[in-house]
Amino acid sequence: MTTQEEQTRAGLRFPAGFAWGAATSAYQIEGAVTEDARGTSIWDTFTKTPGRVVNGHHADVAIDHYHRYREDVGIMAELGLSAYRFSVSWPRVQPSGSGKINPKGLDFYKRLTDELRSHAIDPWLTLYHWDLPQELEDKGGWPNRDTAYRFAEYAAAVHEALKDHVHTFSTVNEPWCAAFLGYASGEHAPGRREPQNAIRGAHHLNLAHGLAVQAMDARRVGGCVNLYAVTPATDSAEDLDAARRIDGLQNRFFLDALLTGRYPEDVLSDLPVEIDFIEPGDMKTISAPIDVLLVNYYSRFTVSGAPGGKASAAAAPTDTASPWVGSEHVSFVNGGRPVTAMGWEIDESGLVEILTRVARDYPPIPMVVSENGAAFDDHLDDGRVHDRERQAYVEAHLGACKEAIEAGVPLEGYFAWSLMDNFEWAWGYGKRFGLVHVDFETQERLLKDSALWYSEIIRQNRRHEPTDS
Ligand code: FCB
Repeated sequence: MTTQEEQTRAGLRFPAGFAWGAATSAYQIEGAVTEDARGTSIWDTFTKTPGRVVNGHHADVAIDHYHRYREDVGIMAELGLSAYRFSVSWPRVQPSGSGKINPKGLDFYKRLTDELRSHAIDPWLTLYHWDLPQELEDKGGWPNRDTAYRFAEYAAAVHEALKDHVHTFSTVNEPWCAAFLGYASGEHAPGRREPQNAIRGAHHLNLAHGLAVQAMDARRVGGCVNLYAVTPATDSAEDLDAARRIDGLQNRFFLDALLTGRYPEDVLSDLPVEIDFIEPGDMKTISAPIDVLLVNYYSRFTVSGAPGGKASAAAAPTDTASPWVGSEHVSFVNGGRPVTAMGWEIDESGLVEILTRVARDYPPIPMVVSENGAAFDDHLDDGRVHDRERQAYVEAHLGACKEAIEAGVPLEGYFAWSLMDNFEWAWGYGKRFGLVHVDFETQERLLKDSALWYSEIIRQNRRHEPTDS
């Protein structure tokens, strides 16, 4: 028995059928932004606006996945992945965000999903990973209720075209980021700093999720949230209140809405806005039954209500306002843990905490970890990337998944973020999250040590599974 086998047996042995995945998103990898009649997205506009992205980087070419998808699926097959989570670019499929569908855009995702299935890799399709068609932003973006209805229309069109190709559909990736980084802090596209509109946007993103679930009537559909473990810096009343607030806006605002059809009262009363945008029936729509909850997890926040700390967990690379609408006074303090290249504290116990909490506090719902991973400063060394820190990060978090499963959490899969190095939003190409190294000049792909290790864990786990078909 090799060391790897011992390791798998000892620690990282998962139930048969566990989804072994990796994740990406359209704007971060595809490139080809003007090809085949694709429309303009808010990220195309945002990246071309000076001062928004480090070094003025944009994703016009990104890692050229639009042209290299076959090679990339080949890499997934080499890794032994059983599932791949990607997103559809809304402006590629429906260039103006309403009306006419662009068949060439849909064709790309048909080719991609065919390729995946020919390698027995289950396609997990995300409908929205932040690239709103610019024309919809021009009409008000997510703070405009109509955008939610446009999203449901788009979702129905994608579902109709791809329902026989896709394993699981999911709606909105990380609505917290889309609303609060897009419309309050301005760190993400469209870069607005309008706290009250961010809240409206958050509600409309939730509504868009529910309307899409209903419109697709899909065999398997999920919603996606990014959850953080949140700890008060001390047990003072003001720190406990800070933790309640940040946990409320980051986690409960979305979990409660999607899974119980209510917004938490305490969070609503923290918000500096008249709650006049929730229409009758909205909460029932938002909590339309789903088959799986996709949980993205990266880190833990330690927060304080005392003045003088940092305004966010990791300073944004650009000039931004606070995303914490109504709780701008809360500060984020150093929890004393090692950090990744993003400055995010590494804490796998937070993953156990949030998974067991969802299982305990909400109606039963199968879950997957739909994103988890870390940026580090990688170095190419004689054709290898010895990214031991990333491997250790993934190993620790897989251990956390195992622990959660043993505690009774219905966890059905894990998707590493990311399959490949790519365009990391406001940070441009400066932060590498990939299991696979990409040379951004030549587009050459190279498996990092973490990828080789991950594939070995997958191989050991899948060895005893019935052959995929
Ligand atoms: C998540 C995003 C993903 C990636 C990772 C690092 O918030 O969903 O696109 O940027 O963070």
